[in-house]
Amino acid sequence: MCGIIGYVGTSPAKPIILEGLKRMEYRGYDSAGIAVFENGKISSEKKAGKLQVLTDEVSEDHWSGTAGIGHIRWATHGIPNDVNAHPHTDCTGKIYLIHNGIIENFHELRERLTAEGHEFTTQTDTEVLTHLIESHLPGNSLSEAVKASLKEVIGTYGLAVVSEMDPDTIVAARLGSPLILGIIGDGEYMIASDATAILPHTREVIYLDEGEVVTVNRKGFTITTVDNTTVEKNSSKIEWDIQQAEKQGYDHFMLKEIMEIPRVIEDGLRGRLIIEDGIAHFGGFLEYEDKWRSIERIVIVACGGAAIASRVGEYMLEEYASIPVKVEIGSEFRYRKPVLDEHTAVVIVSQSGETADTIASLREAKRQGVFTFGIVNVVGSTIAREVDAGMYIHAGPEVAVASTKVMSGMVAMFSLLTLAIGRQRGMSLVTGKRIAKELQNVSLLAEKMLKKNTETIKSLAKKYATYDNAFFLGRKYNMPSAFEGALKFKEIAYVHAEGYPSGELKHGPLALLDDRFFVCAITPKDSVYEKNLSNIQEVRARKGVVLALATEGDTGIEQYVDDVIYMPKTLEMLTPILSMIVVQLLAYYTAVERKCDIDQPRNLAKSVTVE
Ligand code: AGP
Repeated sequence: MCGIIGYVGTSPAKPIILEGLKRMEYRGYDSAGIAVFENGKISSEKKAGKLQVLTDEVSEDHWSGTAGIGHIRWATHGIPNDVNAHPHTDCTGKIYLIHNGIIENFHELRERLTAEGHEFTTQTDTEVLTHLIESHLPGNSLSEAVKASLKEVIGTYGLAVVSEMDPDTIVAARLGSPLILGIIGDGEYMIASDATAILPHTREVIYLDEGEVVTVNRKGFTITTVDNTTVEKNSSKIEWDIQQAEKQGYDHFMLKEIMEIPRVIEDGLRGRLIIEDGIAHFGGFLEYEDKWRSIERIVIVACGGAAIASRVGEYMLEEYASIPVKVEIGSEFRYRKPVLDEHTAVVIVSQSGETADTIASLREAKRQGVFTFGIVNVVGSTIAREVDAGMYIHAGPEVAVASTKVMSGMVAMFSLLTLAIGRQRGMSLVTGKRIAKELQNVSLLAEKMLKKNTETIKSLAKKYATYDNAFFLGRKYNMPSAFEGALKFKEIAYVHAEGYPSGELKHGPLALLDDRFFVCAITPKDSVYEKNLSNIQEVRARKGVVLALATEGDTGIEQYVDDVIYMPKTLEMLTPILSMIVVQLLAYYTAVERKCDIDQPRNLAKSVTVE
């Protein structure tokens, strides 16, 4: 995933562009570049490395131009170096283009354009776009040349392009990668990949849809399709504040976002839980009650952490809504031949709403005419706008690459969906009220647990950060939490951690256990507590080191393990909300001990908008 930004207006463009790239740095950070109009000419610079390298490089450049574009990269084609950084230019050096996405037919286009005499200088797929536009420019405006070029392109793009032939004009287009137009004021506009870059300047935005192209300069903007059909669009208002997207005194976004989890749960439930009736009310259900009534099977599709959170939803829905549910990994589902029918609902779960494999799975479900429901955090994202119905998680911007608060929000959303569907399918009022009441209370439990246990977790991390290997074990509702602990330890602490259903350890993995490992056993006082204790014994019998997550008051477990982190008691289906927080916080402090780059872990990006 990359970040693109453009500005045209009355203020110097360079500082605005660099500041906007800083706010999008989590989208990718292996190189960055900028191009700014200067008296009809374009000045440009691009550098491998983090944004600061570029910022230092152009700090002495007194570019006073008031229109330009900028890019921050997460490499897909071509290693991260100065040459492959965006913007890319054509043979004349008068067209500058930035791009987020993948041009799938770039080989054929490159061969054809090379045969026509174009000279390529990079290893990227993106560069073909600049030469394609160059080939369409004669007799056309930049906007017309861009649209003609995009008709030849197969792939995905969120792009912006400027040319000395069209001074102070930006042409931007989207297909498969997000693009937003910010309306700052009279003759002043921005385009960007996400609202975080636009918010310091305006809350009024227009979300471009697939296949739309915006041409913008100080005189105003027009939006058309690639076929040049004018599109009228209403503007929207960004609801959240910029400080929500900043660290607010925490050392890392990840810690801030973990500490936000109680508020995220509250915000996600607000106005959607009717405790006295034991039901959940939200648009994506109420407007489709008859459709949900006809559903006999649910397929949940997600990737990474979202898929882990979805596993909790799978267990909830099966137990309390008595409906068959299966979680599918997006990168597998999209290439299988899934059997879906009119009685299947496909639930698409994604924080960013831009994950390529998840989007492709959604589009496969829609191709089969199946009802699609989204659980998404980013408002106006591709998935949010393409599902038939859905619910926003309302977690606010999640900046750390490692997803934490949004995963808690996803579990809260599944709790609401379980309540809604369950009550429609025979769940009793008593059960509904019990779930609703406990759900209402879980944010307070999370808050108390964070206040009470953060220091314990921080000190235990000093001990467990010395291990390079770990097993995370859990059963039923906490099996996903075991997978989450392992994911976070890999993702931000670079520890080789594996998550397993506790009962699986003896079917092979136990052979791996030795003193290089520690075992985190998630063992709340639930319906499988005794089974989990047996698994702890299996580990102890082989001199394994065990850190248990247990329920407050269960002091008896201390005799079987080396350390315990206690969690408040709650409904079994809600225990993963608490256990996920614990393993995420443990991973965070372990990563601190191991001096890892927590908010921007190596090799990763916040949203994987490529296959
Ligand atoms: C989780 O910590 C990771 N950042 C990653 O697995 C993430 O959950 C996955 O890429 C899915 O992203 P999405 O929710 O934006 O679709």
